[in-house]
Amino acid sequence: MKKLSAIVPAAGSGVRLQSKIAKPYIRLNNKPLLWYCLNALERSRKVNDIIVISEKANIKRTANLIKRFKFKKVKAVVAGGASRGESVYNGLMALDKDTDYVLIHDGARPFLEDKLIDRCLTEVTKHKAVICAVPCSSTIKQADKNLSVVSTLDRNSLWQAQTPQVFAYKLLCRAYANFKNEKTGAFDDASLVERLGRKVKIVPGANINIKITTQEDLMLARAILKLPNS
Ligand code: CTP
Ligand code: MG
Repeated sequence: MKKLSAIVPAAGSGVRLQSKIAKPYIRLNNKPLLWYCLNALERSRKVNDIIVISEKANIKRTANLIKRFKFKKVKAVVAGGASRGESVYNGLMALDKDTDYVLIHDGARPFLEDKLIDRCLTEVTKHKAVICAVPCSSTIKQADKNLSVVSTLDRNSLWQAQTPQVFAYKLLCRAYANFKNEKTGAFDDASLVERLGRKVKIVPGANINIKITTQEDLMLARAILKLPNS
């Protein structure tokens, strides 16, 4: 059996959410936001262990949450860095060297379905680097600083990247070894693999797999939780 470890970055500062309560602990149906993805990973039969990345000041709070909800697969809570990339890097360093595959899933995405984990895992054995993504439903314009449209991108070739993203452990370590030198820019884990010149495979994500970024996302998540069977 191959060993799959999960890294959950949850060390952001939630600037765009503008909430007094730090993002991972915001209540959604009486559970903290972070509970949702940890619950999905804990229940998945494919995931062996979990590393949670937390803001340094909140490590104890996160550890308490894990204890309270009896998430047995979580083997460490690690301090995050200034960017998401640095946070994931810290998590990667905390993994056992005998890990075969690494699944990264944002702590801010509560609706992680088992089928996404399974899909990624099936494909990663062939492709070594896979991401969940959904087709872009909007027309995307590229604009300059003055908001003049520079070009209209062909929607048929555009995908919105999500997590989970799953990688062969050794490949991800190589990708992040390069990252150590450059710490700016918003990017996902796969883009570091792309920079190595390696192919990244898309598997179908899910529109319901939203990321909680703004207050509107929270409203949407609360509405989703009211739907039957969710
Ligand atoms: N993240 C992290 N460490 C960082 C920045 C982000 O672990 N230094 C995590 C977040 O906690 C989140 C995920 O990466 O689970 C996606 O980031 P994002 O949605 O941007 O969340 P925040 O960075 O918290 O929000 P904002 O950008 O509005 O401050
Ligand atoms: Mg952010």
